[in-house]
Amino acid sequence: MNRPAAEIQSTSRVCALLGHPVKHSASPAMQNAGMAALGLDWRYLAFDITPAQLRDAIAGARALHFIGLNLTVPHKVAALSCVDVVSDSAKLWGAINTIRFERKNDRGEWVGTGSSAATDLRELRSHGFNTDADAIIRSLREDLALELKGTRVLMLGAGGAGMVAGMRLAAEGITALHIVNRTELKALQIVGAIRQHYPRVEVSTGYPAGRVDLILNATSLGLNHDDPLPLDTSVFPLNRAGAVYDMIYRPAETQLLCAATQAGCRIANGLGMLLHQGAQALELWCGQAAPLPVMRRALEENVYG
Ligand code: ATR
Repeated sequence: MNRPAAEIQSTSRVCALLGHPVKHSASPAMQNAGMAALGLDWRYLAFDITPAQLRDAIAGARALHFIGLNLTVPHKVAALSCVDVVSDSAKLWGAINTIRFERKNDRGEWVGTGSSAATDLRELRSHGFNTDADAIIRSLREDLALELKGTRVLMLGAGGAGMVAGMRLAAEGITALHIVNRTELKALQIVGAIRQHYPRVEVSTGYPAGRVDLILNATSLGLNHDDPLPLDTSVFPLNRAGAVYDMIYRPAETQLLCAATQAGCRIANGLGMLLHQGAQALELWCGQAAPLPVMRRALEENVYG
C-alpha cells in the first residue's frame, strides 16, 4: 500500500530532477510514491535549470545535502563533466541521468548519503550513473517479450537517447543495428562508437533490406499529433518489423504505434523505460528494492489520468 507521506520535517531529505523544461515530468509523482511506500521521509522535487546553471545547481544540491539528482533533457551529457566520478558503464554510454551524493563510511568506502543524518556529512563526492540504458533493455523484455541477443534492430534517431540505446543494444549482443536519422553525421558517430566497442555487431546507417525484429523510435517525432512518422514507410513498410517500441509515452499511442498495430506488429511505448530508470535510481539512493507496482501506478495516474 502507498502510505500517505508524512508532513515535511526539519529532518526530511531531498532528491530532485534537473531539466529544461521539467514542468510536465511524471518523475516527482513516481518517486514520491515510491519513497512514501518505502517509509522514507524523503521528498523528490523538480527544478527547471538552464544549461548555463547546471554546474551551480549540482554544486548547490550537494551543499544542501541532497541525497541525489536525476537529470533529463538537455543535461545528460553536460552533467558528465560536473560530477567527481562517473560509473564505468555510464562512461561507455556517454551520458548520466542519475547522481548519488556519497560520503566515506568507517571503513573508508564511499556510500550513498541516504542512510546518514544530514549532520553527518562532511567529505562528500558526487557519483554519476546511467539508469536509462538498463531500463531500455528491461522494458523491451517485459513489454515486448523480446530477448535481444541475435536480433536485428532498426533504430530511428541518433540524439542522446539514440546513442545510449544503440550502445546498450550492442552490449546485449544484437546481430545487426541499422540507424536512420535526419542528420546522418550523428548516426555515423553512433556507428563509429559501436564499431569501436562491439566489433561483432553489424552496424550501418540507412534502411536495411529484409525484416527486422524491432524498430526502436528514439526521435522526438510523435510528441505532437501532427508530426510526420519517424520512418519512411514507402522504403521500409512496417509489416517488415516484428515489434515496434516508441520511447515516447505521451501520447500513449503515437501515430507510429497506431500504424504498427495496423501492420500487425507488437507494440510498446516508453512508460516502462521511464519506470525502470526511476526505480534503479531510487535503488541507488536508498539501497533497497524499489516498490515497482506502486511507482508504476503513480506514473500511469500522472501520465494518463
Ligand atoms: P534526446 O536526448 O531525447 O535523444 P536529442 O539529442 O535532441 O534528444 O535527439 C532528438 C532526436 O530526434 C534526433 O535524432 C533528431 O534528429 P537530428 O539528429 O537530425 O536532429 C530527431 N528529430 C527531432 N526533430 C526531428 C524532425 N523534425 N525530423 C526528424 N528528426 C527529428
